[in-house]
Amino acid sequence: MITDPSGRALDYLRLSLTDRCNLRCVYCMPEEGVVWKPHAEILRFEESLRLCRILCALGIRRIKLTGGEPLVRRGLENFIRELREIPLLEELTLTTNGLLLAEFLDCLGDDARFLLNGVNISLNSPDAANFARIARRDRLGAALGGMRRALAAGLPVKLNCVPVRGFNERDLAATAALAKDEVRAVRFIELMPLGAGASLEGVPMAEVLAVLEGEFGPLRRDYSRIGNGPAVYYAVPGFAGKIGFISAISETFCAGCNRLRLGADGRLRACLASEISADLRSLLRSGAGDDEIKNAVLRLAASKPVSHRFAGPVAKGGRGGSGGLPGQEYCRIEDGMYRIGG
Ligand code: 5AD
Ligand code: SF4
Repeated sequence: MITDPSGRALDYLRLSLTDRCNLRCVYCMPEEGVVWKPHAEILRFEESLRLCRILCALGIRRIKLTGGEPLVRRGLENFIRELREIPLLEELTLTTNGLLLAEFLDCLGDDARFLLNGVNISLNSPDAANFARIARRDRLGAALGGMRRALAAGLPVKLNCVPVRGFNERDLAATAALAKDEVRAVRFIELMPLGAGASLEGVPMAEVLAVLEGEFGPLRRDYSRIGNGPAVYYAVPGFAGKIGFISAISETFCAGCNRLRLGADGRLRACLASEISADLRSLLRSGAGDDEIKNAVLRLAASKPVSHRFAGPVAKGGRGGSGGLPGQEYCRIEDGMYRIGG
């Protein structure tokens, strides 16, 4: 088992497979001029596999594939099949914007349900114009097509929405309504004041809750365990799915944090708030043995801070004042270090 100095067992890995994406969400990337990491700096699939085997031997039991957008990586299907061969791995899930999901699931065929334990799809608005403004691409149809294909394949689906003032704040009830039938949960994620997100205004979760209660009546806290993350869930009368809230800023959820993050470039991180990382790519490529890599992982886990240090005006729902993080060009939450939610 990997434990950190606060006694938290780290059994969940967020594995970023690329920094690239086919959308340009306003809170994540600039409109133009994104500088992608050179291919040589991105782990090859066989390198990622070796690290995953080592991490599972140490105690990782659940892996979430993330990006950028993981489905833009060619060869992902085989990688997933090989990951699944790791006997200690209990759960494999995927976070995607959904655009390429239908195609990808067609390619997995009937195996999809056995290979993947679920998918999280980012869907910031069910309104085509607002979706396009926030994602800077007019692709709502493709995202919804991906969602429907995942449901048809029998996969548990969760949707993620980041409410941003002036972009999708009027669509909150319509977004939540996507949890009426087959979708397991619609989760609202508080905008984090990082990178591109620092110049935008989020909508505090208390406000989102109030809007939803105005529309659907009182929401009831639901304590059943859904996923691995820090979301707080509510039941809505008449909805089969749940509504989740993920708030990194207004509520501290670090106490239950169970995750490590492996960037597409092979840097392992224990927390967004920490500047410390382990360069596993260099270790791998210098011919290090498994034990040496294990030691680097354990040393890194020992650096996991007790709690992050987000603070400032955003806590009250105002503009992001705490700025970006050292060395981060864009938010690149998935690829970088920190991901809230599951
Ligand atoms: N604040 C909050 N959520 C963000 N995401 C990306 N950047 C930010 C940010 N600055 C979300 C994506 C996706 C999930 C992986 O994280 O929209 O739903
Ligand atoms: Fe792509 Fe996700 Fe960033 Fe949007 S938030 S640009 S979908 S990586």
